[in-house]
Amino acid sequence: MKKLLELLTEEVGSAFEKAGYKKEAGRVSVSNRPDLCEYQCNGAMALAKECKCAPKMIADAVVEVLKDSTVFESVEAVMPGFINMNISSDFLAKYVAEMAEDAKYGVELPKSKTIIVDYGGPNIAKALHVGHLRPAIIGESIKRILKYMGHNVIGDVHMGDWGKPMGLVMTEIQCRQPDLPYFDESYTGEYPKEPPFTVKDLEEIYPTASAKSKEDPDYNARALEATLKLQSGVRGYRALWEHIIDVSVNDMKRIYEKLHVDFDLWNGESTVQYLIPDMVREMKESGVAYESDGAIVIDVKKDTDTKEIPPCIVLKSDGASLYNTTDLATIKERVAKYDPAQMIYITDKRQDLYFEQVFRAAVKAGLVSDKVTLSHIGFGTMNGKDGKPFKTRDGGVMRLEDLIGDIQNEMYNKIKENKDIDDAEARQTADIVGLSALLYGDLSNQAVKDYIFDMERFISFEGNTGPYILYTIVRIKSIIVKYQAQGGNLSGLKIGVPVNNSEKDLMKALSSFSQVMEGAEAELAPHRICAFIYDLANALNSFYHETKILSEEDEVKKGEYIALINFTKDMLETCIDMLGFSAPDRM
Ligand code: ARG
Repeated sequence: MKKLLELLTEEVGSAFEKAGYKKEAGRVSVSNRPDLCEYQCNGAMALAKECKCAPKMIADAVVEVLKDSTVFESVEAVMPGFINMNISSDFLAKYVAEMAEDAKYGVELPKSKTIIVDYGGPNIAKALHVGHLRPAIIGESIKRILKYMGHNVIGDVHMGDWGKPMGLVMTEIQCRQPDLPYFDESYTGEYPKEPPFTVKDLEEIYPTASAKSKEDPDYNARALEATLKLQSGVRGYRALWEHIIDVSVNDMKRIYEKLHVDFDLWNGESTVQYLIPDMVREMKESGVAYESDGAIVIDVKKDTDTKEIPPCIVLKSDGASLYNTTDLATIKERVAKYDPAQMIYITDKRQDLYFEQVFRAAVKAGLVSDKVTLSHIGFGTMNGKDGKPFKTRDGGVMRLEDLIGDIQNEMYNKIKENKDIDDAEARQTADIVGLSALLYGDLSNQAVKDYIFDMERFISFEGNTGPYILYTIVRIKSIIVKYQAQGGNLSGLKIGVPVNNSEKDLMKALSSFSQVMEGAEAELAPHRICAFIYDLANALNSFYHETKILSEEDEVKKGEYIALINFTKDMLETCIDMLGFSAPDRM
C-alpha cells in the first residue's frame, strides 16, 4: 500500500497541476499546528518565489480545485499561503481498514537483502555485565525490524574469544589443577568430556587471574605463553579452551534468553584465525599494506577527512594479530559465505573511529566491494542517577543478570502491592512487564545518546514506558474478552467511519505505520517505533475514555469499535515484538 502521506501528496499535487502549477509543490506533511488542522502543504510559499506572485493567490487556486476532493473533509488557504487540510473520515477509515487486512499492515516491502547484524560482542570468561545490555538489545531490535521488512537477516554474536583473557584463565586453572592432562604435552589420549570447572568458578577465575597478572610479571609471562600456545594450536590448550567456550556460551545463552536476544551465529574472533595468514600476505603483496615501525598497516585517510584518521594496524610489530585483524578477516569470511548487501555493527560509540578505519581498510584491500554498506551504530552510555556510568550500590560493576532480576523484582513488588494475586502469576507477569520496562527504557532513547537508568520511571504504568504500552494492550484484551462474553464474535468485524474526534485520531495514529517503519529501517532506529507506539497508546486511551465501547447500543457501531481496538492491539503487539518484548494477558 502507498503511504497515507503519499496519497495525500498525490491528491494535492494534482490540484497544483490543475491550477496550472507544478505538482511537486504539493508535498503534504502532518500539521505542526494540530490545533488548526491535521495536515498541511507549504508548497505555495516556495512556488511564489519562482513565479514572483503572492503565495496566498496560489494557495487559493489550489484550494479551489481541492473543494471537490473526496480525500479531504476541509481545505483552507491561510495567510501567508499555507494550505491547511483535514482528511476525510471516510477516506481515512477505508485506508486503515485496508491496512488491517494487509499482512504487513500496509508496509510496502523493499527489495529483500541479506544483512548481517554483528551485536552482543561479549568477551568470553567474564560474566555478562550491564555494559552488555545495550549492544544486545539494540542489535536484537534492529535485527527484528529488518526481518519485519522482509530481509534475510543473520545475527552474529562475534565473541571476544581469542585474546589474552583466554591465556589468563588457562594459567589460573593450571595453578589450581596442575595435574590436568591439558597441560601435559606428552599426553596423547582423549581429553575428558566434562569441563574441570563450573561457570561460577570461571567467573571468579578470570578476575583473580587478571589481578595476579598485574602484580606478578612471571604470572603475566605465563599467561602470554598460554595465549600463544592456544593460538598456535597446542592440542591440550585447544581442548581446555573449548571447555571454556562451552561453559561460557551456555551461560550467556541463558542470560540472553531472559532478554529475548538470540543469535544465528555464535562466531567469534577465533572463527576466522585460519584466514589471517593468507589475508595479510595478500595485503602485503598487493601493496595496500606496508611496514611501519615494524607493524603492518594500511593507510586509510582521505583528502576529504575533516579529522585525523590514523592508519589501520593489521599486525602488531611482534607479529601478533589484534582486534582489527580479526574484524578484517571476519569481513572477508562473511562476504565469501553469505554475500551480504550490508553489515551492521552495534557497539559503544567509542569504537566509531575504529570501525571507520576497519571499513576503509576492508574496502581498500578489496575484502569487500564498495557496493556493500558497512554501518556502525555507536551507542551511548547507560548512566546512573548521578550521571556517571551505572554501578551497583557499592560502586561495583553490576552483572547483567542482577540488573534484569532487580527490575523484575521491583515489578513483582509493585504488582503485589496493587493487587491480590497469587505469587506464581505475579512472578510471571512481573518478568514480562519488568523486561518491557528495561527494554523500552533503553530503546526509546536514540541509541547514540547516553541515558539515565531510572528504575522508578521505567517501571511506571504511566508515561512513556514499556509498562504503559503493555497496560494499554492488556486494557484492549480485557475489553475484547468482555465483548466475547457478551456474545460478540471478532470474525467478520470491519473498521468503520469514525464518529468522533478521538476515534479519528486513533485512526490517524495507526495510519503512519508504514512511514514509521521506513524511517526505522533507514535509520536503524528502534526509538522510532517507541515514539509511534507511545502516540498510538495515548490515542487508544483517549478513545477509550471518550467512548462507551461495550455499552454502545448500535451493534454495528460497537463491532466497528471493537475491530478498531483489536487492530490497535495487533499493531502494538507487532511493534513490541520488534523491540523484543511481549504482553501478558492480565496485569
Ligand atoms: N568484543 C568487543 C568489545 O568488547 C565487541 C565486538 C564487536 N564486534 C566486532 N565485530 N568488533 O568491545
